[in-house]
Amino acid sequence: MSTDALFHINITNAAYIFAAILFIVGLKQLGSPATARRGNRMSSLAMLVAVLATVVGNEIMSWEWILGGIIVGSAIGVYSARKVEMTSMPQLVAIFNGFGGAASAVIAAGELIRLINEGAVIAEDVSITIMASVIVGGVTLTGSFIAYGKLQGLVPTRPLLMPIRNVINVALLIGMIASTVWLVIDPSITAFLIAGGIALALGILVVIPIGGADMPVVIALLNSYSGIAGAATGFVLGNNMLIIAGSLVGASGLILTRIMTKAMNRSLMNVMLGGFGVEDGASASGDEETRPVTSIQPEDAATMLAYAQSVIFVPGYGLAVAQAQHQVRELADLLKQKGISVRYAIHPVAGRMPGHMNVLLAEANVPYDELKDLDEINGEFQRTDVAVVIGANDVTNPSARTDTSSPIYGMPILNVDQAQSVIMMKRGMSAGFAGVQNELFFLDKTQMLFGDAKDSVEKITKEVKDL
Ligand code: TAP
Repeated sequence: MSTDALFHINITNAAYIFAAILFIVGLKQLGSPATARRGNRMSSLAMLVAVLATVVGNEIMSWEWILGGIIVGSAIGVYSARKVEMTSMPQLVAIFNGFGGAASAVIAAGELIRLINEGAVIAEDVSITIMASVIVGGVTLTGSFIAYGKLQGLVPTRPLLMPIRNVINVALLIGMIASTVWLVIDPSITAFLIAGGIALALGILVVIPIGGADMPVVIALLNSYSGIAGAATGFVLGNNMLIIAGSLVGASGLILTRIMTKAMNRSLMNVMLGGFGVEDGASASGDEETRPVTSIQPEDAATMLAYAQSVIFVPGYGLAVAQAQHQVRELADLLKQKGISVRYAIHPVAGRMPGHMNVLLAEANVPYDELKDLDEINGEFQRTDVAVVIGANDVTNPSARTDTSSPIYGMPILNVDQAQSVIMMKRGMSAGFAGVQNELFFLDKTQMLFGDAKDSVEKITKEVKDL
């Protein structure tokens, strides 16, 4: 190798090491709200360095194609990130995961086709890593699109169970392993197409039976898969940067999956087998509700709050939809001025993304020490006069404790039902994301305040001011 080429490789590897350090420090900084923005910028810079080093350090293809790809990709990225509503961010993340998996699978497939067409002898380790990338990438692509469909309301969020689904999945798994072995022994496009096709089908079949409440686990896992597919493609191409970046995504996704399974009190196997708490052939109950509830007006809610000594706000996905965080904070300030104790109960999977409620409330400058985690606040509800549920539903549903047939059975919930009285703000009687009716609505102590949360909170604040 010429000294010139050696110099080139050393510079590229030095840039990769620099990018890897930036990625690791950036990830660390993403762990705290105070440093998250800096972490994000640092990781973006790492990606820029990694892409530039790869493009400059390897003669991949002509500049026109590379520049064209960067322009088209950046335009789509900037447009979608700017246009997407905060409440649709999880859908965007699901799509990005899917495309990440697809990109890795397509690159690995391209490498396989090139090697077969050139009549090259393909070493076993190369064909195995190619198949790992295609299979994991394929599952990630279709699985992420089903997850997107569930989050977007295009696919029912209730567990959709096919009879003998586990038998079908096992048969597909065996078919996938057999075609991979075939490809390793005798590399052929047919074996590759069979394995790839099965991976795409498995992605759909594995995610479709998983109930909405378990989506946080699924999205974290698919995120990790997209990293694993990337790392496998890194081995295929012999690209150290892709191996490091893919491994970081894979590992952090697995850590997040572990956090989410803990928050949901599930084992990963529970979630992946799907249809938690629902018998085969049945579906979770989401039938039209006919039982009576007690409803109140904002004026009544204002009186309850103004004469309380302690209040806990329980925010959920509806707070994000209504964008009521600033109004809630104004109401809280008013109550505090009257000497009332105010706290916020934060469930780990409230909303649609990890830390969703923390981010929303931080945006409204709610003091961080008023936000209490589930473990910290659950013992406090019984000593609280009024629990105000603002657009939360599944995370307050007491049937998660007792109803073994419920898709949310076993999920730890906020003990809202133990407060002296409950004000439940939502627009109608619809079920939560998991598709199950909330028993909390029908308790004697619960008062339903129907309407958009922002509207309701504004009206209550106005009334409290006048009291
Ligand atoms: P949900 O169970 O989704 O309930 C939200 C409630 O907000 C709905 O019942 C809805 O009732 C109400 N709502 C919607 N818009 C509103 C508005 N403008 N004003 C007032 N109310 C409004 O929410 P949750 O309790 O936060 O639970 C989260 C669920 O999402 C869990 O099942 C969780 O597992 C799942 N999930 C979480 C994540 C993460 S990581 N957090 C990711 C994916 C899925 P109305 O339509 O009647 O108003």
